[in-house]
Amino acid sequence: MSVQAKRRADYLPPAFSIATVDLHITLHPTNTRVISTLSIKRQGSHTDPLVLDGDNLPVNSLKINGSAISDDSNEAQFYELTESSLTLYCELDAFELTIETTISPENNKALEGLYLSGGAYCTQCEAEGFRRITFFMDRPDVLSVYTVTVVGDKSIPMLLSNGNPVEKGELPDNQHFVKWHDPHPKPCYLFALVAGDFDLLCDTFTTKSGKDVALELYVDKGKKAQGDFALASLKRAMKWDEDVFGLEYDLDIYMIVAVDFFNMGAMENKGLNVFNSKFVLADQNSATDDDFFNVESVIAHEYFHNWTGNRVTCRDWFQLSLKEGLTVFRDQQFSADMTSALSNRIKHVRVMREHQFAEDSSAMSHPIRPEEVIEMNNFYTVTVYDKGAEVIRMFHTLLGADGFRKGMDEYFKRHDGQAVTCDDFVSAMQSASKLDLTQFSRWYSQSGTPTVTVKQNVEQDVHTFTLSQYTAPTADQAEKLDLYIPINIELIDSNGNHYTDNEGVIRDGMLILNEPSITFTVNAPEKTLIPVILGNFSAPVKVENALDTLSLLTIFTHARDPFNRWDALQTLYDRCIKQLESAPGSAISDAIWDGIKQAIKHEKHNVELLGECLVIPSFETLCQTRTGVKVGELARARDAFCRQFSKALKSELLDVFNGIARVPYNYEQTAVNQRRCKNVVLAHLARLPEHENLVVEHFENADNMTDTLGALKSAQYSSKATFDKLMTTFESKWNHDPLVLDKWFALHATQPSEDIFATITMLCEHPQFTMGNPNRVRAVIGSFAFYNSEKFHAVDGSGYKYVTDYLLKLDAINPQVASRIVTPLTQWQGFAQEHQVLMKQQLGRLLNHKGLSKDVFEKVSKSLAYDKH
Ligand code: TRP
Ligand code: ZN
Repeated sequence: MSVQAKRRADYLPPAFSIATVDLHITLHPTNTRVISTLSIKRQGSHTDPLVLDGDNLPVNSLKINGSAISDDSNEAQFYELTESSLTLYCELDAFELTIETTISPENNKALEGLYLSGGAYCTQCEAEGFRRITFFMDRPDVLSVYTVTVVGDKSIPMLLSNGNPVEKGELPDNQHFVKWHDPHPKPCYLFALVAGDFDLLCDTFTTKSGKDVALELYVDKGKKAQGDFALASLKRAMKWDEDVFGLEYDLDIYMIVAVDFFNMGAMENKGLNVFNSKFVLADQNSATDDDFFNVESVIAHEYFHNWTGNRVTCRDWFQLSLKEGLTVFRDQQFSADMTSALSNRIKHVRVMREHQFAEDSSAMSHPIRPEEVIEMNNFYTVTVYDKGAEVIRMFHTLLGADGFRKGMDEYFKRHDGQAVTCDDFVSAMQSASKLDLTQFSRWYSQSGTPTVTVKQNVEQDVHTFTLSQYTAPTADQAEKLDLYIPINIELIDSNGNHYTDNEGVIRDGMLILNEPSITFTVNAPEKTLIPVILGNFSAPVKVENALDTLSLLTIFTHARDPFNRWDALQTLYDRCIKQLESAPGSAISDAIWDGIKQAIKHEKHNVELLGECLVIPSFETLCQTRTGVKVGELARARDAFCRQFSKALKSELLDVFNGIARVPYNYEQTAVNQRRCKNVVLAHLARLPEHENLVVEHFENADNMTDTLGALKSAQYSSKATFDKLMTTFESKWNHDPLVLDKWFALHATQPSEDIFATITMLCEHPQFTMGNPNRVRAVIGSFAFYNSEKFHAVDGSGYKYVTDYLLKLDAINPQVASRIVTPLTQWQGFAQEHQVLMKQQLGRLLNHKGLSKDVFEKVSKSLAYDKH
């Protein structure tokens, strides 16, 4: 395969500008005509030809200033067409270029460019999809003002594009048109077009300066009642961005369209967001508390992009975290304000530990600002998004909320309307900070997860603490530099008294680890001191802190930082599971169970923290604190721990369960916390056969999807007969609703049952399943590969083979989704040799496959090449 990697270091500014784009698009399922008129200007003094991207597009006609040009190279002006580009030899410095091309939305199964979702036309251009619609300089630093005329059959009543509608009318042959104008110059990845017959929800928002904005939400016919929550969330997000960042919306109309076929979560196209319907539609019967949470956070995320992404965009795709890390941070802050800071923080730390740490130790390891890319779609990663957000959070921690706001104001003052770099962001932040951010900015260029190690030494009542940092070499980078790491720290004794250091390296509870190691001392005669590190997960690092059980329980009882308290129990559980790995069949000590009983008693009235504390680290999280994982052994140890947990704590768990009264459903934080805690506890109780009826009752009495799903998850530990019976009841009730059915698909796919492949095959043949819909594929195949670790990693290699067989078929229609699902297969480094061999065998099959997409090729080839190091 001939694929060329692009490097960040090779950036060159565009050779031409395109100030205006006039698009005239006549929709047809297989024969959509796109006429594009561009005003081109040469930049600087050079004689290079104009090179436009175009992905397998025909040139029907091409005109310069109105005169037709051909591909005859004997002419003074001519063009050259390849599979991926159109080169125009023309010596003019400024001219108008008109190109007509034709595309086939109906045959576009990759869901990139213009495609049909259900019956509706829609577009997805980020990152490089615009080149599948028309010829253009498809790069984010070419900003243009767009005027778009959408022409379609009258059977398609709604014809939408970015900005404001400026004209509409009837045309011959039963056609009509709407013309749109977007006054804000934008890169082509923010272009959007949607055409179809939708139900429409309307609302308005008045900005703080008194401008009325029309809000329009387009959903599938009959789904109107499921749109209210999204619309209300949008208004909350608009208000929050005004209150917290002083940022107002800048057009007269804000449209959101929900579609069923979508590769990702949602897309922030200027004034016309397109959403995966799963992040819009929600009502009490069909949506869980998590669904409501996700809808609100994705709605906010895309809205916040209007400033961080659209008004100020990226110079090139290596800078993706400039908009994504920042916007994720903003949506996290918003969610924390709307719901709860603690449960949000825990949620995001789980994502880091489960997925980002895994990526950072794999062959795909990359800094939040990558250096080298083959397929850009592969870099919409947990590293760029979530670690990127952690880096922004550290700015926020270091500068304080006010300093951060000052830095943001400066960023917009300097760069509104521009396409900029991460360095530009850092330098705006620097202007608002007294700190020197030079070393801090290494977080942008260095990949890998640092480990912070705590060492303690006592001599004559003087405690000496040493914190050191180490980042292991990664697949992409052999040399690592010292990072600037903000570490929230508390020092407590066994009674919970707090201490501070003699040297004053700890300030306001924070220590900056900016050298290989830092040492400080504390005077505490006749005391045991416990270092409590990384409060609120103040940096995206791993911690090694050798604390005994008693110290962990002391942290739980006495630390001020609630995140540390939660984390102490997570560490304790991890320890217990390690014991059961090295001594299978051994018993966890009563001292530990007594400690956890105390903890439950202590937090009886704080169901939010209690619920989170009773969650055992996931299998995937446990993998990150181990090497050479033997999946069967770890899974058995985790299982054994969970069973002992249920037995030892049975009466406490039952008390918690029965102590939370059932109240009529509402999506309100207190009720959310209660349901969460209750369902977590139920899953523990379900491990004991005598509680099967409790699970069934919970299922039968549920008046909301959160409890229904909680019961079904618990039933995964019940007898097969009960699980099957509840699942069948659920399926017949929700058969008509694919978004709900996805939950059912995922539950089946994550069941570690003996006949899992028969089950998955049955799911793939379900009338609601289609390989063309990414939500279905993720629910079945994605859930299996990511979360059915026991069966995916079966030592006979059957799980790896099943997924690979599937990916070979999927890759031919949707490479982007295939490339995401291949991830677990590429992360073989953490597993024992017996797994590695089998995983690489399947990676080899993929690599040898003729016609493999460059998406999958990039990940698979990197993964196999890493082996040779
Ligand atoms: N920019 C989108 C976001 O809000 C991400 C996105 C949506 C995307 N669709 C995509 C990225 C397709 C790549 C390809 O995060
Ligand atoms: Zn985003």
